[in-house]
Amino acid sequence: MKNILVTGGAGFIGANFVIYMLEKYPDYNIIVYDKLTYAGNMDNLLAVSDDPRFDFVKGDICDPETVADTIRRFGIDTIVNFAAESHVDRSIIDPDAFIKTDVYGTYVLLEAAKTFGLERYHQISTDEVYGHVPFGHSSVETDNLEPRSPYAASKASGDLMVNAYFVTYGLPVTITRGSNNIGPFQYPEKVVPLFATNAIDYEPLPVYGDGKQMRDYQYVGDHCSAIDVVLHKGKYGEAYNVGTGTEMENLEMVEILLETLNRPKILIRHVADRPGHDRRYSLNVAKVRALGWEPEHTPAEAIAKTVQWYAENEWWWRKIKSGEFKAYYRQQYEERLRNATPS
Ligand code: NAD
Ligand code: DAU
Repeated sequence: MKNILVTGGAGFIGANFVIYMLEKYPDYNIIVYDKLTYAGNMDNLLAVSDDPRFDFVKGDICDPETVADTIRRFGIDTIVNFAAESHVDRSIIDPDAFIKTDVYGTYVLLEAAKTFGLERYHQISTDEVYGHVPFGHSSVETDNLEPRSPYAASKASGDLMVNAYFVTYGLPVTITRGSNNIGPFQYPEKVVPLFATNAIDYEPLPVYGDGKQMRDYQYVGDHCSAIDVVLHKGKYGEAYNVGTGTEMENLEMVEILLETLNRPKILIRHVADRPGHDRRYSLNVAKVRALGWEPEHTPAEAIAKTVQWYAENEWWWRKIKSGEFKAYYRQQYEERLRNATPS
């Protein structure tokens, strides 16, 4: 592994991964391939933009010619695919781009990996492919995929296609299925950066429904180190769950967030729930731990550290919140907040 194509590397997790890998491996070259949708942001890559081992190509993973040109031009041997439409609420408003990028785009990359005989194709997937997980169970990698939102269904379809290329063509693939990531550079549509930036400005926090849904909030750096471990030690054809292995209710996350920022609980508003909202995700992470990986942060530490980053990096998020984001926020929250109930 030497020349790695990181698709979606200008997004939240992808950019953290690029920074992590360039710091850890002096002899690796990283080429970011990204369409720069609303979620892609070159500010996320400022730390590495002058590094001679880093290159950037603006391109769509649904465009086979540009993908092939890029693989040829940079002598790519490995693809790590982060590129996706990633927000559940947007997939409910309009699933179209999710099917194109998360399903068809994955197929285009797999086909390119096969044509060029790459060393490895790694797919970044999600715990949402398992669907709602009842109490008493934590998902293992062999569980059925039972996605329930258009986003989750598009990611599960990607996983199935990756597996098909392994079984049918012997393509050397691996998959990681991560829980909720939080940390620097997360677009403030996702709950933790949205609530942190709202709370900083004493704006209301729109909690969906009763706020008792459960998520495993992991620090993005821990997810990146797990992907690194799977890239180097993961067995071809296998999927690996990645998370802390402990989930908490959203309201508990909100309490930690408000305490960290020293903001009052009266900012909490209970608003209309997300349609089809998965109540609980829970991952069994024994398989990735058996490769020698473990997370460095508990969910509570990850939340506090993330919130602190947003408090100290207004330069990064204020310009985002004043652009495209405003129209999205109005569409998603204006009516909900008008009909909200306080905590
Ligand atoms: P993000 O929305 O922050 O970034 C996605 C990136 O992909 C952006 O830079 C965007 O410009 C790019 N992109 C979108 N469509 C593209 C296309 N057609 N061609 C090329 N680039 C395109 O997403 P994220 O939160 O960093 O998630 C990255 C990956 O990790 C996704 O595959 C997501 O499903 C998965 N994942 C995310 C989480 C999480 O909590 N955020 C957890 C588990 C898995
Ligand atoms: O679980 C992994 C997934 O985590 C990733 O695959 C997705 O890409 C990522 O977006 C994330 O999905 P979630 O839907 O879990 O994340 P989100 O931050 O949107 O919501 C987290 C929880 O907070 C969820 O229970 C919904 C709730 N929520 C979210 C928003 C945006 C609210 O209560 N209010 C909100 O305004």
